[in-house]
Amino acid sequence: MSEETVVNIEETKAASAPVATISTLGKHEGQSVTLKGWLYNLRESGKLLFPIFRDGTGTVQGVAHVKSVPAEVFEALKGLTQESSVIVTGKVRADKRAPGGYELDVENIQVIQRVSESDPFPISLKEHGVEFLMEHRHLWVRTPRQSAILRIRAEIMRAAAEYFDQNGFIRTDPPILTPAACEGTSTLFPVDYFGEPAFLTQSGQLYIESTALALGKVYSFGPTFRAEKSKTRRHLTEFWMVEPEVAFCDLNDLMQLAENYLSHIVQSVVKNRAPELEVIGRDIQKLEAIVPPFPRLRYDEAAKMLNDAHAKGELENPFEYGNDFGSPDETWLTKQFDKPVMVHRYPAAVKAFYMEPDPEDPTYALCLDVLAPEGYGEVIGGSQRVSSYDLLKSRIEAHNLPLESFQWYLDLRRYGSVPHAGFGMGIERVVAWVCGLDHVRETIPFARTLHRIYP
Ligand code: 4AD
Ligand code: MG
Repeated sequence: MSEETVVNIEETKAASAPVATISTLGKHEGQSVTLKGWLYNLRESGKLLFPIFRDGTGTVQGVAHVKSVPAEVFEALKGLTQESSVIVTGKVRADKRAPGGYELDVENIQVIQRVSESDPFPISLKEHGVEFLMEHRHLWVRTPRQSAILRIRAEIMRAAAEYFDQNGFIRTDPPILTPAACEGTSTLFPVDYFGEPAFLTQSGQLYIESTALALGKVYSFGPTFRAEKSKTRRHLTEFWMVEPEVAFCDLNDLMQLAENYLSHIVQSVVKNRAPELEVIGRDIQKLEAIVPPFPRLRYDEAAKMLNDAHAKGELENPFEYGNDFGSPDETWLTKQFDKPVMVHRYPAAVKAFYMEPDPEDPTYALCLDVLAPEGYGEVIGGSQRVSSYDLLKSRIEAHNLPLESFQWYLDLRRYGSVPHAGFGMGIERVVAWVCGLDHVRETIPFARTLHRIYP
Protein backbone atom coordinates (compact mmCIF):
# COMPACT_ATOMS: atom_id res chain seq x y z
CA MET A 1 0.00 0.00 0.00
CA SER A 2 1.11 3.53 -0.62
CA GLU A 3 2.15 5.57 2.40
CA GLU A 4 0.77 8.83 1.08
CA THR A 5 -2.25 9.29 -1.08
CA VAL A 6 -1.90 11.25 -4.25
CA VAL A 7 -2.46 14.97 -3.73
CA ASN A 8 -5.19 16.95 -5.42
CA ILE A 9 -4.37 17.61 -9.07
CA GLU A 10 -5.05 21.35 -8.63
CA GLU A 11 -2.37 21.45 -5.96
CA THR A 12 0.15 19.92 -8.34
CA LYS A 13 -0.42 22.78 -10.76
CA ALA A 14 0.47 25.44 -8.21
CA ALA A 15 4.14 25.37 -9.16
CA SER A 16 6.43 28.18 -8.09
CA ALA A 17 8.60 28.12 -11.25
CA PRO A 18 7.71 27.55 -14.92
CA VAL A 19 7.07 23.91 -15.79
CA ALA A 20 9.70 22.35 -18.06
CA THR A 21 10.57 18.92 -19.38
CA ILE A 22 13.96 17.30 -18.99
CA SER A 23 14.56 17.16 -22.75
CA THR A 24 14.23 20.96 -23.00
CA LEU A 25 16.27 21.99 -19.94
CA GLY A 26 18.79 23.67 -22.23
CA LYS A 27 16.30 26.45 -22.87
CA HIS A 28 16.25 27.28 -19.16
CA GLU A 29 19.92 27.45 -18.21
CA GLY A 30 20.37 29.57 -15.09
CA GLN A 31 16.63 29.61 -14.37
CA SER A 32 14.50 27.80 -11.82
CA VAL A 33 12.08 25.31 -13.37
CA THR A 34 9.52 22.81 -12.17
CA LEU A 35 9.73 19.18 -13.32
CA LYS A 36 6.97 16.62 -12.89
CA GLY A 37 8.13 13.06 -12.79
CA TRP A 38 9.57 10.24 -10.74
CA LEU A 39 12.66 9.48 -8.73
CA TYR A 40 14.76 7.12 -10.85
CA ASN A 41 17.67 6.74 -8.46
CA LEU A 42 19.17 8.34 -5.38
CA ARG A 43 22.80 8.48 -4.32
CA GLU A 44 23.45 9.75 -0.80
CA SER A 45 26.78 10.90 0.48
CA GLY A 46 26.33 12.38 3.97
CA LYS A 47 25.33 15.98 3.55
CA LEU A 48 24.92 15.68 -0.20
CA LEU A 49 22.06 14.00 -2.05
CA PHE A 50 22.16 13.19 -5.75
CA PRO A 51 18.65 12.24 -6.88
CA ILE A 52 18.16 11.30 -10.53
CA PHE A 53 14.75 12.31 -11.84
CA ARG A 54 12.95 11.06 -14.93
CA ASP A 55 9.90 12.57 -16.55
CA GLY A 56 9.36 10.51 -19.69
CA THR A 57 11.47 12.82 -21.83
CA GLY A 58 14.79 11.96 -20.22
CA THR A 59 16.70 11.84 -16.95
CA VAL A 60 18.54 14.54 -15.04
CA GLN A 61 20.68 14.44 -11.93
CA GLY A 62 19.75 16.77 -9.11
CA VAL A 63 22.02 18.02 -6.35
CA ALA A 64 20.85 18.91 -2.85
CA HIS A 65 23.24 19.99 -0.08
CA VAL A 66 21.95 19.99 3.49
CA LYS A 67 22.95 23.64 3.83
CA SER A 68 21.54 24.88 0.54
CA VAL A 69 17.97 23.53 0.75
CA PRO A 70 15.27 23.96 3.40
CA ALA A 71 15.40 21.26 6.06
CA GLU A 72 12.05 19.76 5.03
CA VAL A 73 13.22 19.45 1.43
CA PHE A 74 16.35 17.60 2.49
CA GLU A 75 14.26 15.35 4.73
CA ALA A 76 11.76 14.60 1.94
CA LEU A 77 14.52 13.63 -0.45
CA LYS A 78 16.64 11.66 2.01
CA GLY A 79 15.83 7.99 1.71
CA LEU A 80 13.21 8.68 -0.95
CA THR A 81 12.30 5.46 -2.67
CA GLN A 82 12.76 4.61 -6.36
CA GLU A 83 9.76 5.52 -8.57
CA SER A 84 8.14 7.78 -5.98
CA SER A 85 6.31 10.45 -7.96
CA VAL A 86 7.46 14.01 -7.37
CA ILE A 87 7.19 17.60 -8.43
CA VAL A 88 10.59 19.17 -8.06
CA THR A 89 11.82 22.72 -8.49
CA GLY A 90 15.44 23.56 -9.10
CA LYS A 91 17.88 25.76 -10.93
CA VAL A 92 19.25 24.47 -14.25
CA ARG A 93 23.03 24.37 -14.40
CA ALA A 94 25.11 23.38 -17.43
CA ASP A 95 27.52 20.53 -16.70
CA LYS A 96 29.61 19.05 -19.48
CA ARG A 97 29.99 15.73 -17.66
CA ALA A 98 26.22 15.25 -17.20
CA PRO A 99 24.63 12.86 -19.73
CA GLY A 100 22.07 15.41 -20.98
CA GLY A 101 24.47 18.33 -20.48
CA TYR A 102 22.60 19.77 -17.43
CA GLU A 103 22.11 19.26 -13.72
CA LEU A 104 19.45 20.55 -11.39
CA ASP A 105 20.25 22.36 -8.12
CA VAL A 106 17.22 21.27 -6.13
CA GLU A 107 15.25 24.04 -4.41
CA ASN A 108 11.96 22.40 -3.54
CA ILE A 109 10.22 19.04 -3.79
CA GLN A 110 6.70 17.81 -3.37
CA VAL A 111 6.30 14.06 -3.04
CA ILE A 112 3.08 13.01 -4.79
CA GLN A 113 3.22 9.36 -3.85
CA ARG A 114 6.01 7.80 -1.85
CA VAL A 115 6.69 4.17 -2.77
CA SER A 116 6.73 2.08 0.40
CA GLU A 117 10.06 0.67 1.62
CA SER A 118 8.27 -2.58 2.40
CA ASP A 119 7.00 -2.88 -1.19
CA PRO A 120 9.75 -1.38 -3.34
CA PHE A 121 9.62 -0.92 -7.11
CA PRO A 122 10.30 -4.45 -8.43
CA ILE A 123 12.80 -3.42 -11.09
CA SER A 124 15.87 -2.28 -9.23
CA LEU A 125 18.98 -0.98 -10.94
CA LYS A 126 20.69 -4.37 -10.73
CA GLU A 127 20.40 -6.87 -13.57
CA HIS A 128 17.19 -8.85 -13.99
CA GLY A 129 16.40 -11.87 -16.15
CA VAL A 130 14.38 -11.33 -19.32
CA GLU A 131 11.46 -13.46 -18.10
CA PHE A 132 11.17 -11.38 -14.94
CA LEU A 133 11.31 -8.18 -16.95
CA MET A 134 8.68 -9.36 -19.45
CA GLU A 135 6.43 -10.36 -16.53
CA HIS A 136 6.80 -6.77 -15.28
CA ARG A 137 6.63 -5.14 -18.69
CA HIS A 138 4.06 -2.61 -17.41
CA LEU A 139 6.80 -1.27 -15.11
CA TRP A 140 9.85 -2.14 -17.23
CA VAL A 141 8.77 0.44 -19.84
CA ARG A 142 9.71 3.15 -17.32
CA THR A 143 13.41 2.43 -17.42
CA PRO A 144 15.48 4.83 -19.56
CA ARG A 145 16.54 2.25 -22.11
CA GLN A 146 13.03 0.90 -22.70
CA SER A 147 11.60 4.42 -22.85
CA ALA A 148 14.21 5.37 -25.44
CA ILE A 149 13.29 2.35 -27.57
CA LEU A 150 9.60 3.26 -27.45
CA ARG A 151 10.41 6.82 -28.47
CA ILE A 152 12.42 5.54 -31.42
CA ARG A 153 9.55 3.21 -32.34
CA ALA A 154 7.17 6.18 -32.35
CA GLU A 155 9.53 8.09 -34.65
CA ILE A 156 9.76 5.10 -37.00
CA MET A 157 5.96 4.92 -37.17
CA ARG A 158 5.67 8.68 -37.65
CA ALA A 159 8.22 8.71 -40.49
CA ALA A 160 6.66 5.57 -42.00
CA ALA A 161 3.34 7.38 -42.40
CA GLU A 162 4.94 10.72 -43.27
CA TYR A 163 6.72 9.38 -46.35
CA PHE A 164 3.52 8.08 -47.86
CA ASP A 165 1.45 11.10 -46.84
CA GLN A 166 3.98 13.40 -48.51
CA ASN A 167 4.24 11.33 -51.67
CA GLY A 168 0.63 11.11 -52.79
CA PHE A 169 -0.41 7.87 -51.05
CA ILE A 170 -3.88 7.68 -49.48
CA ARG A 171 -4.19 5.72 -46.25
CA THR A 172 -6.97 3.11 -46.52
CA ASP A 173 -7.48 0.82 -43.55
CA PRO A 174 -8.26 -2.81 -44.31
CA PRO A 175 -10.41 -4.90 -41.95
CA ILE A 176 -8.82 -6.88 -39.14
CA LEU A 177 -11.61 -9.47 -39.08
CA THR A 178 -11.45 -11.40 -42.33
CA PRO A 179 -13.20 -14.40 -43.87
CA ALA A 180 -10.10 -16.00 -45.42
CA ALA A 181 -6.32 -16.24 -45.55
CA CYS A 182 -4.09 -13.73 -47.32
CA GLU A 183 -0.66 -15.30 -46.90
CA GLY A 184 -1.09 -18.96 -47.74
CA THR A 185 2.34 -19.38 -46.17
CA SER A 186 1.40 -18.50 -42.58
CA THR A 187 -1.11 -19.62 -39.96
CA LEU A 188 -4.31 -17.81 -38.94
CA PHE A 189 -5.90 -17.04 -35.57
CA PRO A 190 -9.54 -18.15 -35.77
CA VAL A 191 -12.36 -16.15 -34.19
CA ASP A 192 -16.03 -16.94 -33.82
CA TYR A 193 -17.91 -14.35 -35.86
CA PHE A 194 -21.54 -14.75 -34.72
CA GLY A 195 -21.30 -18.46 -35.38
CA GLU A 196 -19.39 -18.07 -38.64
CA PRO A 197 -15.68 -18.86 -38.80
CA ALA A 198 -13.47 -15.80 -39.31
CA PHE A 199 -9.82 -14.93 -38.79
CA LEU A 200 -7.58 -12.11 -37.60
CA THR A 201 -5.84 -10.60 -40.61
CA GLN A 202 -2.29 -11.59 -41.55
CA SER A 203 -1.89 -8.69 -43.97
CA GLY A 204 -4.13 -6.02 -45.47
CA GLN A 205 -2.70 -6.60 -48.92
CA LEU A 206 -5.67 -8.09 -50.76
CA TYR A 207 -7.92 -5.28 -49.57
CA ILE A 208 -5.51 -2.50 -50.45
CA GLU A 209 -5.09 -3.99 -53.92
CA SER A 210 -8.74 -3.04 -54.25
CA THR A 211 -8.29 0.50 -52.91
CA ALA A 212 -5.15 0.96 -55.06
CA LEU A 213 -7.25 0.33 -58.14
CA ALA A 214 -9.68 2.93 -56.79
CA LEU A 215 -7.20 5.59 -55.63
CA GLY A 216 -3.91 4.89 -57.43
CA LYS A 217 -1.41 4.90 -54.57
CA VAL A 218 -2.52 3.72 -51.14
CA TYR A 219 -1.16 2.36 -47.90
CA SER A 220 -2.41 0.61 -44.80
CA PHE A 221 -0.93 0.69 -41.34
CA GLY A 222 -2.19 -1.52 -38.57
CA PRO A 223 -1.83 -4.62 -36.43
CA THR A 224 -1.54 -8.01 -38.12
CA PHE A 225 -1.54 -11.51 -36.65
CA ARG A 226 0.38 -14.72 -37.25
CA ALA A 227 -0.34 -17.94 -35.42
CA GLU A 228 2.85 -19.84 -36.28
CA LYS A 229 4.21 -21.63 -33.26
CA SER A 230 7.52 -19.98 -33.88
CA LYS A 231 9.67 -18.62 -31.10
CA THR A 232 12.56 -17.04 -32.94
CA ARG A 233 13.89 -13.61 -32.02
CA ARG A 234 12.09 -12.22 -35.10
CA HIS A 235 8.56 -13.50 -34.51
CA LEU A 236 5.62 -11.89 -32.79
CA THR A 237 2.09 -13.25 -33.00
CA GLU A 238 0.76 -9.68 -33.15
CA PHE A 239 2.79 -7.04 -34.97
CA TRP A 240 2.37 -3.80 -36.86
CA MET A 241 2.70 -3.78 -40.59
CA VAL A 242 2.75 -0.85 -42.98
CA GLU A 243 1.86 -1.74 -46.56
CA PRO A 244 1.93 0.40 -49.70
CA GLU A 245 0.13 -0.74 -52.86
CA VAL A 246 0.51 1.05 -56.19
CA ALA A 247 -1.39 0.76 -59.48
CA PHE A 248 0.72 0.79 -62.67
CA CYS A 249 3.82 -0.26 -60.76
CA ASP A 250 6.32 -3.00 -61.61
CA LEU A 251 8.99 -4.76 -59.58
CA ASN A 252 11.63 -2.23 -60.54
CA ASP A 253 9.51 0.71 -59.37
CA LEU A 254 8.77 -1.21 -56.19
CA MET A 255 12.46 -1.73 -55.43
CA GLN A 256 13.07 1.99 -55.83
CA LEU A 257 10.17 2.76 -53.52
CA ALA A 258 11.49 0.30 -50.92
CA GLU A 259 15.01 1.77 -50.80
CA ASN A 260 13.79 5.38 -50.68
CA TYR A 261 11.20 4.50 -48.05
CA LEU A 262 13.49 2.63 -45.69
CA SER A 263 16.20 5.29 -46.04
CA HIS A 264 13.73 8.03 -45.18
CA ILE A 265 12.70 6.21 -42.02
CA VAL A 266 16.23 5.49 -40.82
CA GLN A 267 17.43 9.05 -41.53
CA SER A 268 14.43 10.48 -39.65
CA VAL A 269 15.48 8.51 -36.59
CA VAL A 270 19.07 9.70 -36.94
CA LYS A 271 17.86 13.30 -37.22
CA ASN A 272 15.12 13.33 -34.58
CA ARG A 273 16.13 10.68 -32.04
CA ALA A 274 19.88 11.12 -31.58
CA PRO A 275 19.67 11.41 -27.75
CA GLU A 276 17.68 8.17 -27.56
CA LEU A 277 20.13 6.37 -29.86
CA GLU A 278 22.85 7.47 -27.46
CA VAL A 279 20.93 6.19 -24.41
CA ILE A 280 20.74 2.73 -25.98
CA GLY A 281 24.33 2.88 -27.23
CA ARG A 282 23.55 2.52 -30.94
CA ASP A 283 26.35 3.18 -33.44
CA ILE A 284 24.89 6.09 -35.43
CA GLN A 285 27.44 5.80 -38.25
CA LYS A 286 25.97 2.44 -39.24
CA LEU A 287 22.57 4.11 -39.59
CA GLU A 288 23.90 7.16 -41.45
CA ALA A 289 25.10 4.78 -44.17
CA ILE A 290 21.51 3.75 -44.98
CA VAL A 291 20.91 5.77 -48.15
CA PRO A 292 19.82 4.70 -51.63
CA PRO A 293 20.70 2.84 -53.74
CA PHE A 294 20.69 -0.54 -51.98
CA PRO A 295 22.50 -3.53 -53.46
CA ARG A 296 20.26 -5.86 -55.49
CA LEU A 297 20.74 -9.58 -55.83
CA ARG A 298 18.77 -12.14 -57.73
CA TYR A 299 17.77 -15.10 -55.58
CA ASP A 300 20.08 -17.26 -57.70
CA GLU A 301 23.06 -15.03 -57.00
CA ALA A 302 22.29 -15.04 -53.28
CA ALA A 303 21.99 -18.84 -53.36
CA LYS A 304 25.39 -19.10 -55.02
CA MET A 305 26.96 -16.82 -52.40
CA LEU A 306 25.51 -19.02 -49.65
CA ASN A 307 26.86 -22.17 -51.26
CA ASP A 308 30.31 -20.64 -51.63
CA ALA A 309 30.19 -19.55 -47.99
CA HIS A 310 29.32 -23.10 -46.95
CA ALA A 311 32.18 -24.48 -49.07
CA LYS A 312 34.56 -22.10 -47.29
CA GLY A 313 33.21 -23.20 -43.91
CA GLU A 314 31.60 -19.85 -43.14
CA LEU A 315 28.13 -21.36 -43.01
CA GLU A 316 27.39 -24.57 -41.16
CA ASN A 317 24.62 -25.95 -43.36
CA PRO A 318 24.55 -26.08 -47.16
CA PHE A 319 21.85 -23.96 -48.75
CA GLU A 320 19.27 -26.03 -50.54
CA TYR A 321 18.41 -24.33 -53.80
CA GLY A 322 14.70 -23.69 -54.15
CA ASN A 323 14.05 -23.09 -50.46
CA ASP A 324 13.33 -19.81 -48.75
CA PHE A 325 16.37 -18.54 -46.84
CA GLY A 326 16.68 -19.73 -43.26
CA SER A 327 17.67 -17.46 -40.41
CA PRO A 328 21.39 -18.37 -40.50
CA ASP A 329 21.40 -17.79 -44.29
CA GLU A 330 19.85 -14.34 -43.96
CA THR A 331 22.19 -13.50 -41.12
CA TRP A 332 25.25 -14.45 -43.15
CA LEU A 333 24.02 -12.70 -46.31
CA THR A 334 23.26 -9.41 -44.62
CA LYS A 335 26.66 -9.35 -42.95
CA GLN A 336 28.23 -9.08 -46.41
CA PHE A 337 26.76 -5.59 -46.95
CA ASP A 338 26.63 -2.39 -44.94
CA LYS A 339 23.24 -1.48 -46.40
CA PRO A 340 20.01 -3.45 -46.67
CA VAL A 341 20.19 -5.91 -49.56
CA MET A 342 17.25 -6.42 -51.92
CA VAL A 343 16.88 -10.04 -52.98
CA HIS A 344 14.51 -10.44 -55.92
CA ARG A 345 13.07 -13.13 -58.19
CA TYR A 346 12.67 -16.08 -55.80
CA PRO A 347 11.45 -19.39 -57.22
CA ALA A 348 7.70 -18.99 -57.60
CA ALA A 349 7.14 -22.36 -55.92
CA VAL A 350 8.16 -21.08 -52.45
CA LYS A 351 6.25 -17.82 -52.65
CA ALA A 352 2.63 -16.68 -52.23
CA PHE A 353 -0.09 -17.45 -54.79
CA TYR A 354 -0.64 -13.79 -55.76
CA MET A 355 2.85 -13.08 -57.06
CA GLU A 356 3.30 -12.28 -60.75
CA PRO A 357 5.57 -14.72 -62.57
CA ASP A 358 8.63 -13.32 -64.34
CA PRO A 359 7.74 -13.18 -68.06
CA GLU A 360 11.36 -14.12 -68.86
CA ASP A 361 11.09 -17.33 -66.86
CA PRO A 362 7.78 -18.03 -65.11
CA THR A 363 9.40 -20.37 -62.60
CA TYR A 364 10.57 -17.18 -60.85
CA ALA A 365 8.29 -14.67 -59.10
CA LEU A 366 8.56 -10.90 -59.52
CA CYS A 367 9.08 -10.43 -55.80
CA LEU A 368 11.55 -8.91 -53.40
CA ASP A 369 12.67 -9.28 -49.81
CA VAL A 370 14.66 -6.48 -48.22
CA LEU A 371 17.16 -7.88 -45.73
CA ALA A 372 18.52 -5.48 -43.12
CA PRO A 373 22.27 -5.47 -42.40
CA GLU A 374 24.17 -6.64 -39.29
CA GLY A 375 22.38 -9.97 -39.40
CA TYR A 376 18.87 -8.56 -38.95
CA GLY A 377 17.39 -10.09 -42.09
CA GLU A 378 13.97 -9.62 -43.66
CA VAL A 379 12.22 -6.35 -42.84
CA ILE A 380 10.22 -5.97 -46.07
CA GLY A 381 8.51 -8.52 -48.30
CA GLY A 382 6.60 -7.63 -51.45
CA SER A 383 5.91 -8.31 -55.10
CA GLN A 384 4.22 -7.42 -58.32
CA ARG A 385 0.76 -9.04 -58.28
CA VAL A 386 -0.76 -11.47 -60.75
CA SER A 387 -2.83 -9.30 -63.09
CA SER A 388 -4.40 -12.00 -65.30
CA TYR A 389 -7.79 -13.34 -64.24
CA ASP A 390 -7.18 -16.86 -65.56
CA LEU A 391 -3.77 -17.21 -63.99
CA LEU A 392 -4.95 -15.91 -60.63
CA LYS A 393 -7.92 -18.27 -60.63
CA SER A 394 -5.74 -21.28 -61.38
CA ARG A 395 -3.29 -20.19 -58.66
CA ILE A 396 -6.06 -19.97 -56.06
CA GLU A 397 -7.21 -23.46 -57.04
CA ALA A 398 -3.69 -24.87 -57.06
CA HIS A 399 -3.13 -23.53 -53.54
CA ASN A 400 -6.38 -25.18 -52.36
CA LEU A 401 -7.82 -21.84 -51.30
CA PRO A 402 -11.63 -21.50 -51.19
CA LEU A 403 -12.53 -19.91 -54.51
CA GLU A 404 -15.79 -18.43 -53.22
CA SER A 405 -13.90 -16.32 -50.66
CA PHE A 406 -11.76 -14.88 -53.43
CA GLN A 407 -14.48 -13.88 -55.92
CA TRP A 408 -14.17 -10.23 -54.97
CA TYR A 409 -10.38 -10.42 -55.33
CA LEU A 410 -10.77 -11.98 -58.79
CA ASP A 411 -13.13 -9.11 -59.70
CA LEU A 412 -10.09 -6.80 -59.54
CA ARG A 413 -8.76 -8.74 -62.58
CA ARG A 414 -12.08 -8.63 -64.42
CA TYR A 415 -12.66 -4.91 -64.33
CA GLY A 416 -9.71 -2.84 -65.51
CA SER A 417 -6.83 -5.00 -64.33
CA VAL A 418 -3.41 -3.29 -64.37
CA PRO A 419 0.11 -4.25 -63.36
CA HIS A 420 0.38 -3.34 -59.71
CA ALA A 421 2.73 -4.00 -56.84
CA GLY A 422 3.23 -3.46 -53.14
CA PHE A 423 5.10 -4.59 -50.07
CA GLY A 424 4.71 -5.02 -46.33
CA MET A 425 7.18 -3.76 -43.75
CA GLY A 426 7.15 -5.09 -40.20
CA ILE A 427 7.57 -2.17 -37.78
CA GLU A 428 9.05 -4.30 -34.99
CA ARG A 429 11.71 -5.81 -37.27
CA VAL A 430 12.75 -2.31 -38.27
CA VAL A 431 12.80 -1.12 -34.64
CA ALA A 432 14.99 -4.10 -33.67
CA TRP A 433 17.45 -3.31 -36.43
CA VAL A 434 17.53 0.48 -35.96
CA CYS A 435 17.97 0.06 -32.19
CA GLY A 436 20.41 -2.85 -32.53
CA LEU A 437 18.30 -5.17 -30.32
CA ASP A 438 18.72 -8.91 -30.33
CA HIS A 439 14.99 -9.72 -29.93
CA VAL A 440 11.73 -8.15 -31.14
CA ARG A 441 10.11 -8.50 -27.70
CA GLU A 442 11.57 -5.11 -26.67
CA THR A 443 10.35 -3.29 -29.79
CA ILE A 444 6.66 -3.01 -28.92
CA PRO A 445 5.02 -1.83 -25.67
CA PHE A 446 3.46 -5.23 -24.94
CA ALA A 447 4.85 -8.07 -27.03
CA ARG A 448 2.64 -11.01 -27.90
CA THR A 449 4.69 -14.15 -28.37
CA LEU A 450 4.11 -17.90 -28.41
CA HIS A 451 4.29 -18.21 -24.61
CA ARG A 452 3.26 -14.76 -23.45
CA ILE A 453 0.00 -12.86 -23.36
CA TYR A 454 0.47 -11.22 -19.91
CA PRO A 455 0.48 -8.38 -18.94
O1 4AD B 1 6.67 -11.16 -45.88
P1 4AD B 1 5.29 -11.02 -45.32
O2 4AD B 1 4.63 -12.24 -44.79
O3 4AD B 1 4.45 -10.34 -46.48
C1 4AD B 1 3.11 -10.08 -46.51
O4 4AD B 1 2.36 -10.23 -45.57
C2 4AD B 1 2.66 -9.41 -47.75
N1 4AD B 1 1.21 -9.68 -47.91
C3 4AD B 1 2.95 -7.95 -47.64
C4 4AD B 1 2.59 -7.19 -48.90
O5 4AD B 1 3.12 -7.51 -49.95
N2 4AD B 1 1.74 -6.21 -48.78
O6 4AD B 1 5.31 -9.94 -44.15
C5 4AD B 1 5.77 -8.64 -44.40
C6 4AD B 1 6.72 -8.20 -43.31
C7 4AD B 1 7.97 -9.05 -43.18
O7 4AD B 1 8.96 -8.65 -44.11
C8 4AD B 1 8.39 -8.77 -41.75
O8 4AD B 1 9.06 -7.53 -41.67
C9 4AD B 1 7.06 -8.63 -41.05
O9 4AD B 1 6.10 -8.31 -42.04
N3 4AD B 1 6.67 -9.87 -40.37
C10 4AD B 1 6.75 -10.08 -39.04
N4 4AD B 1 7.19 -9.30 -38.04
C11 4AD B 1 7.14 -9.78 -36.77
N5 4AD B 1 6.66 -11.00 -36.47
C12 4AD B 1 6.20 -11.83 -37.44
N6 4AD B 1 5.71 -13.03 -37.12
C13 4AD B 1 6.24 -11.38 -38.80
N7 4AD B 1 5.87 -11.91 -39.99
C14 4AD B 1 6.14 -10.99 -40.93
MG1 MG C 1 8.16 -12.54 -46.17
